[in-house]
Amino acid sequence: MLDTLTFGFLGGGNMASALIGGLVSRGVPASAIRVVDPFDDARQRLARTLGVQTLAAPDAAFGASDVIVLAVKPQQFRDAVASLAPLLKNNLIISVAAGIRLQDMQRWMGTTRLVRAMPNTPALAGMGMTGLAAAAGLSDDDRAIATSVAEAVGQCVWVEDDGQIDAVTAISGSGPAYVFYFVEAMERAATEMGLSAEQGRKLAVETFRGAAALAAESPEPVSTLRERVTSKGGTTYAALTSMDASGIKDAFVRAMHAAAARGREMGAEFGKD
Ligand SMILES: NC(=O)c1ccc[n+]([C@@H]2O[C@H](COP(=O)([O-])OP(=O)(O)OC[C@H]3O[C@@H](n4cnc5c(N)ncnc54)[C@H](OP(=O)(O)O)[C@@H]3O)[C@@H](O)[C@H]2O)c1
Repeated sequence: MLDTLTFGFLGGGNMASALIGGLVSRGVPASAIRVVDPFDDARQRLARTLGVQTLAAPDAAFGASDVIVLAVKPQQFRDAVASLAPLLKNNLIISVAAGIRLQDMQRWMGTTRLVRAMPNTPALAGMGMTGLAAAAGLSDDDRAIATSVAEAVGQCVWVEDDGQIDAVTAISGSGPAYVFYFVEAMERAATEMGLSAEQGRKLAVETFRGAAALAAESPEPVSTLRERVTSKGGTTYAALTSMDASGIKDAFVRAMHAAAARGREMGAEFGKD
């Protein structure tokens, strides 16, 4: 389905590069992709590594792309879409910008063919998890296109409304950092117990990879998987009892509420005019 469409990317940074790489690997011809980035180095890198057409500013052909992906930083978003809006031709717009609400994009661009996406950095390794929210009235065809774009770099879930994207941000958007945080703790514990940092990193990273694969393929609740490695009085039991005594799970849940609250604040901040 994607290979018949033309794509315009506003912003040619990390997330745009991951998505473009995914689209090209799914059969979208590089010649069907135009990327706008004001930074000369970024344009040269994109043209060299992905073979796409690059521009310093949007032009009429860019504004006529079937699908336009907005992939600039939230702070750059307002200015970037101001120059794009007059060129739009009722295209499907997919924004990956953190914290920018659908209602504000609708106001700034005067369109309702809009999807707000929240990917995460594993998209760079083709294993992204993206939450998607549609503007009211989006057609099934447009939903299918947005699904295929997100699936070019991993998997996706649709949520009911824009507000739930703050929850997606708190769970999977910021989530890779939580995993890295726990890997850091496991690495530290490993070195404190006499292993090398390299051994600690490998043990921790592969444990996350393996446990995630097991959870993904198992129909059972993760609590059952956890209980299965926690025999009473054993080593895992000692570790989890220590975590419970320190209130780790509650603190972790609170942390994600803090992330969602910050997402709501950022939405209000970026969309105030
Ligand atoms: N990376 C992630 O994990 C992640 C996850 C979820 C969502 N996102 C969202 O994805 C968006 C892009 O993130 P990123 O990590 O890819 O950022 P990035 O690497 O900084 O990419 C943004 C690019 O857009 C360019 N740009 C700035 N102003 C522009 C304009 N007016 N027109 C066109 N391009 C312009 C920037 O150029 P300069 O460098 O010259 O400013 C930069 O190359 C952000 O809104 C972020 O919130 C990222």
